This record gives sequence, C-alpha cells and structure tokens, in this order.
Amino acid sequence: MVTNINKFSSIIIVVCLTTNFARNVEKWEIDSFRRDVKEMFYHGYDNYLRHAYPYDELKPLSCQGMNTWGSFSLTLIDSLDTLLIMGNKTEFARVVKILIDTANFDIDINVSVFETNIRIVGGLLSAHLLSHKAGLELEDNWPCDGPLLRLAVDVADRLLPAFDTRTNLPYGTINLRHGVPKGETTITSTATCGTLIVEFGTLSLLTGVSKYKDAAMKSILALWEKKSAIGLVGNHIDSNSGSWTAKESGIGGGIDSYFEYLVKGSLLNDDPELMDMFKEYNKAIYKYLNYADWYVWADMMRGNVVIPIFQSLDAFWPGIQVLVGNITQAAKTFRNYYSVWRRLGFIPESYAITDNMPYSNRNEYPLRPELIESAWYLYIATKDPIYLEAGMEITKSINRTRTKCGFATVKNVMNHELEDRMESFFLAETTKYLYLLFDTENFINNDGKFGVTYKSKNGKSCILDSGSYIFNTEAHPIDKGAFDCCHSLDSKKFSKLSALKCEANTFRSRLSTASAII
Ligand SMILES: *[C@@H]1O[C@H](CO)[C@@H](O)[C@H](O)[C@H]1NC(C)=O
Ligand SMILES: *[C@@H]1O[C@H](CO)[C@@H](O)[C@H](O)[C@H]1NC(C)=O
Ligand SMILES: *[C@@H]1O[C@H](CO)[C@@H](O)[C@H](O)[C@H]1NC(C)=O
Ligand SMILES: *[C@@H]1O[C@H](CO)[C@@H](O)[C@H](O)[C@H]1NC(C)=O
Repeated sequence: MVTNINKFSSIIIVVCLTTNFARNVEKWEIDSFRRDVKEMFYHGYDNYLRHAYPYDELKPLSCQGMNTWGSFSLTLIDSLDTLLIMGNKTEFARVVKILIDTANFDIDINVSVFETNIRIVGGLLSAHLLSHKAGLELEDNWPCDGPLLRLAVDVADRLLPAFDTRTNLPYGTINLRHGVPKGETTITSTATCGTLIVEFGTLSLLTGVSKYKDAAMKSILALWEKKSAIGLVGNHIDSNSGSWTAKESGIGGGIDSYFEYLVKGSLLNDDPELMDMFKEYNKAIYKYLNYADWYVWADMMRGNVVIPIFQSLDAFWPGIQVLVGNITQAAKTFRNYYSVWRRLGFIPESYAITDNMPYSNRNEYPLRPELIESAWYLYIATKDPIYLEAGMEITKSINRTRTKCGFATVKNVMNHELEDRMESFFLAETTKYLYLLFDTENFINNDGKFGVTYKSKNGKSCILDSGSYIFNTEAHPIDKGAFDCCHSLDSKKFSKLSALKCEANTFRSRLSTASAII
C-alpha cells in the first residue's frame, strides 16, 4: 500500500509543478474509454431487457430476472436518463411510452421509502425534465405537468403517509397501496429522514403543491434539532420518541446522503439555511471524524472513535467537498480512497484503515459509483488528468466483472469471486459517471456558457440545458433551470436558523457559477 500511495503522490506533485500535464492523457485514449463505457452500459442494459425485464434487476450469472426493491421494473426506470445522456433518443422514447402505458404503482408491497424515492421518484423526475431533448411530443403545460411527472407525483403521494409521525421523521418502510404497514418499526435511519429534499423540492417547485417540500423540510429540521451538543448525528432514530437508537456518527451508510442533500437541497431550492446547516456539521465532522483525511465512526455524544473504518459509501464525500468549494480537502480524501482501489482492484463495503484490509467480512463490491462520482466532480473542477487515469483504471477493473449477460457484484474483493447480482445503480450511476468523465462535450457537462430559452404555456420563460443540473443521490440530474417556468412557492420559513448569517453567496460551485453566468 505504501508504494501505491507514494506512486500516486509523486504523480500529483509532477502535475502540480508543470502547466502541461505530466502524463499526457491523449484524446484518442479518452475517446476509446468513452466507447468502452458505452458498450459496457449496453451489455448490461440489453441483457436486462432480454433476460430480466419486467423484473427489477438482472441476475448476471444465471441470466434471469428478480424483484428486489419493489416490483416496478426498477432497472428500466433507473437507466432511463442514462440512455439520453449517451445519446439514445429513440430508446428513451420507446421506454417512456412503455412506462406511460403500463406503469402502475398501486401495488400491495412493502418498500423502502429511501430507495423508492431516490431511484423511482428521482428517475422519473429527471426523465421528465430531460424529455424535451428527445423531441418527445410535449404536453402543453410541460415542464409543470406531463405523464412522467404525474407518475412521480403518484409514487410520492404513496410515500407521504410515512411522514405522518409525532416527530415528522418518516417511517423507513411503506406499503404502496395501504400506507404504513401494521406493526412497522418506528426506527429509521438518518439518511431516510434527510434524503428527500432534492426530489420532493423538485415536485413542489414543478407542481406548485407545497406538501412534498414541507414534508422533506420538516424531517430535515427534526434531525437538526436532534443533533448532539458537539454537533454530530447518529445512525438510527426512533420516529415516535425522537430518541437515537444508534449513536455511531460517520459520513457513510445510514447517514451519508443527509449531508449530501443539505448541500444539494440548498442549491436546488436557493436556500442558504440548508448550506448553513451543512457548514455546522462539516466543522464537527472535520473535528471528530477526520483522521489524516480518512473519516472514521465516532460516538455522537462524546466524539470518541468507535470504529476506524472507511466504507465504500464514504467515497461520495470528495464530490461534496468540491461542490462546497474545498478542492484541496476533496483531493486529499480522494487520494486515500483511491489507494484502496489500487491495492485491491475494488473497494470493499468496509475497510479497516489501520489493518489495511476489509473489515469484518464486509468484502463485497456491488459495483458502486461513489468513487467515480467524486473523480468526475474533481475532474470538472481541476481538469487534472489524474482523475481520468483513475477512471480508466476503475473502468478496466469493472470490466473484469463482465459475465455472459451483464456485470456482476464482486462478492469478495480479496479473491474477486463474483455474485449473481447487478444492482440498478450500475446502469443509473456507475456507467453514467464514467461516461460523463470521458465525455467532456456532453450536454450535462455544459459549464453555463449556453442554454435554450423555453416559454411555457403559462407565459413564463426559463433557460434549459444551461448546466445547472443537480444530481440526486442516484445520479439522476435535475435541471433546476426548468423551475422558472413553473410556480414560485410561498417560501415558507421552516428554519429557526434565520439568525445565522446568510453566507449563501460565498460558497463557490460549478452550479452557482453556471447560474451566475446566465
Ligand atoms: C439505443 O438502444 C437500443 C437498445 O439497446 C439499441 O438497439 C440502439 O442501437 C441504440 N441506439 C443508439 C443510437 O445508440
Ligand atoms: C407488509 O408488512 C406487514 C407488517 O410486517 C405484513 O403484515 C404484510 O404482510 C406485509 N405485506 C406484504 C405484501 O409483504
Ligand atoms: C477545507 O476543509 C478543511 C477541513 O474542513 C478546512 O480546514 C479548510 O479551511 C477548508 N478550505 C477551504 C478553502 O474551505
Ligand atoms: C472490456 O472487455 C471487453 C471484452 O472482453 C474488451 O473488448 C474491452 O477492450 C475491455 N475494455 C476495457 C476498458 O477494459
């Protein structure tokens, strides 16, 4: 491991000393990897259609389908916007028509509020907002109405009963037809409570119905009020009593996207208070969880370290640091995380930092996107070819999980044994972020220099495709430019933070730069 880190840091040093890139990544190389990633996406996608649809997921070893997170053709919906990002308008249009004709969420099934929101609601919203790029016949009132938006609304309405609790914190599970299942546990994860504002904010801003945003904001505020005296949150909380049932604090599984959505929710809703909350947490996280630019787990009350591990899910953090303008911090942490990938060929779900090996048999790599997501944000921000090289290494590793009919979860990163599962995020996120890394000209990578003016039926106009995309935590981009064509909500004040100084305009991100240019 030491050799790998040294090699890596010497590359960084050389790059910093020269204005020309030390290791020239040639254009033909990038082009070739972009083609390879596209081929990989279709190998997964076409085999899903052939062997698994209408089930949720493809089983890449046995070439069959299975339902996992619902029974709503999850992979089909989760992959939809990737098709468009890779330039396939005809297939996008074909799938949209299938969904309009057949999607039905009135199902007697218990589903995860979290997963259904980020994968299904997020996937439908992003496809709805991008649909104009496929030249689909748009309804008169687009983007404030339309068949995909109505499907997203239908699903969100089925999730809303979960928020009807004493604390405003949601239940973790809901029955899509019957509401909260009888006897359902009131214990829910922090991430479940805090990962809704991107999707629910979008729903409210497009439809003018405030109940979605209200539910998401109330839940965020309830969490904020439950943080400990030293400014940390735990992993699980009781939505009935409001007391913490798991007090381990970290940036990974069970909490992660709560922090992500404070930043992205702030950008999406132009809400400086959410960013203020993030900044408060960020200080506490840096103080208690950061050790040599790794992030460990600590007790939320006292701040003492409880488990010194790195989780695969932590790897989103450098991307968030880029969004809040801290590229130095992002680069240091990325370097740590990538060193694990280089050592093992993948990153395990949990990694014992001091032992240099997977922690407690959490050896799996289920084709997760987070490290690539961070490489993409860092590459956009710095144009440092080291992130392209990382993307190329990662692409080659993932390509080794190829099977006859898909790509397979790595069951054990120590021996690269495979398992019969391909999560929908492989096509929604992993291949999408890799493609965007190798496709600088992609419309998503627009840095705000151009856009198209759209006039909606209600007489409002908005600027679309100008690069002001906010990715939900399942990599579904939301074009916030569209909101200007729809409703302005009475901006209800939920926060008790109004006394805090508004520093919203001081953070720099590519997103705010993009909207500033317009
Ligand atoms: C779009 O996807 C379909 C299904 O995979 C494929 O048959 C078609 O060739 C693709 N078209 C383009 C332009 O990539
Ligand atoms: C949903 O969960 C409840 C409570 O655990 C259970 O009684 C019910 O049978 C479940 N429904 C389905 C369709 O699995
Ligand atoms: C980046 O983050 C680190 C740790 O939180 C902090 O010490 C540093 O001041 C930050 N830098 C910038 C430019 O915000
Ligand atoms: C991925 O694997 C395919 C099939 O084995 C091969 O043709 C292709 O060159 C590989 N691409 C990369 C980037 O490893």
